[in-house]
Amino acid sequence: MTKYVIDGGYGLSGEVTISGAKNAAVAIIPAALLVDGTCRIENVPEIRDVTLMLDLLRNLGADVRLINRNCVEINASKIRTTKADYDMARMIRASYYLIGALLGRFGSAQVSLPGGCNLGDRPIDQHTKAFKLLGANVDVQNGYVFADCVGRLRAAPVYLDVVSVGATINTVLAAVLADGLTVIENAAKEPHIVDLANFLNSMGANISGAGTDVIKVRGVKRLEGGAYTIIPDQIEAGTYMAAACACGGEVLIKNVIPKHLDCITAKLAEMGAEITEYDDALLVKRTAPLSKTNIKTLPYPGFPTDMQPQATVVLSIAEGMSLVTEGVWDNRYRYVEELRRMGAKIQVDGKTAIVEGVERLMGAPVRACDLRAGAALVIAGLAASGTTEVEDISHIERGYEHIVEKLQAIGAHIRRVDVPDGTTFAKAQ
Ligand code: EPZ
Repeated sequence: MTKYVIDGGYGLSGEVTISGAKNAAVAIIPAALLVDGTCRIENVPEIRDVTLMLDLLRNLGADVRLINRNCVEINASKIRTTKADYDMARMIRASYYLIGALLGRFGSAQVSLPGGCNLGDRPIDQHTKAFKLLGANVDVQNGYVFADCVGRLRAAPVYLDVVSVGATINTVLAAVLADGLTVIENAAKEPHIVDLANFLNSMGANISGAGTDVIKVRGVKRLEGGAYTIIPDQIEAGTYMAAACACGGEVLIKNVIPKHLDCITAKLAEMGAEITEYDDALLVKRTAPLSKTNIKTLPYPGFPTDMQPQATVVLSIAEGMSLVTEGVWDNRYRYVEELRRMGAKIQVDGKTAIVEGVERLMGAPVRACDLRAGAALVIAGLAASGTTEVEDISHIERGYEHIVEKLQAIGAHIRRVDVPDGTTFAKAQ
């Protein structure tokens, strides 16, 4: 077993460089299946979800070459099968993008129902609805989604009943090579949707309106290879901003798009951070005590649900009572029980967490139950007095590139420790 051991209570200072966006990378990599030629993708984060997605493509027969740690070339001209490996596909959420991409390019896809973080019910009814509207037959049997069509998909109006990042992306993927103009209404507006559209347009697609709630995709006959650089990760940046805020100090967050962070910047400023914006960096400084505030998570440009656990940790040591309302997922407070082990005073009532700030958290052994929950527990450990051990860190390493090294570089006392199975941590020391 491997865990993070954190000696908390130190301020953070220095610089951290943000990696490419996970949720853009896991959409753009399968989108390369639509391209006739070689795509070179730069600024790819070196994280487990990306490695898995690349392996899924290799398994289909795509030629996947790592040029360096953050650059990959993909050529999908020799795909052997449109059936994705069952066990690999069910390990990540984004494997569902293989359905839209394979269906759009080859007219058939067989992909197991996706996995990913347990955040409550995660249906894919809007994805399958869109594929059917575009003329596909879609069926779920024995854990697989089967989708196929005769010839090319046909464009259609697609109204999404819920604002869904995944369904918006999957509809775009399926529509790019379809016959005619697909109009997606009530589309999600996240930066990674714009990034996917920019990637596809740079390869010859005709997509307009990405970043608004109406996206128009005019089908083209083929996409050509090219090179593309993924945007910086909004949530990784927000996580380091929250860490600086929780611990105090001064951290320069480099390689960001400040506009994507407006919603996070606004809330951390309400909590007492001083944030200075540069062209592609943010300086986060916190010297005064933290103040309470209320947060409601919403689709972009609202406060991101993927920052809810990290922001709740900051509020758990802010003066006064804050309300956090989860507006996207049914069950994203599973980490609260772990935070209580560290002395946090938080009550959860349905989608609302009532956070009564305490003066200090105390170190404790805790478990990451999902990716952002894990990041939140790391922040809690950095801000707490004493030692925190975070277990189940594989969740964290699914989505944060070199988190230990990046935190160490800004003064955090965190290390990754291998503990032989069956040994208690104290013995392993
Ligand atoms: C993406 O998940 C992200 N994952 C999630 O990030 C993120 O929390 C979420 O978007 C919201 O921003 C990836 O990009 C791989 P949704 P996704 O479809 O696409 C409901 C992280 O930590 N819904 O926008 O699966 C759904 O139940 C992860 O990086 C339907 O009802 O989320 C939810 O309430 C965790 N039917 C809401 O829509 C559908 O067919 C939003 O989900 C699809 C979704």
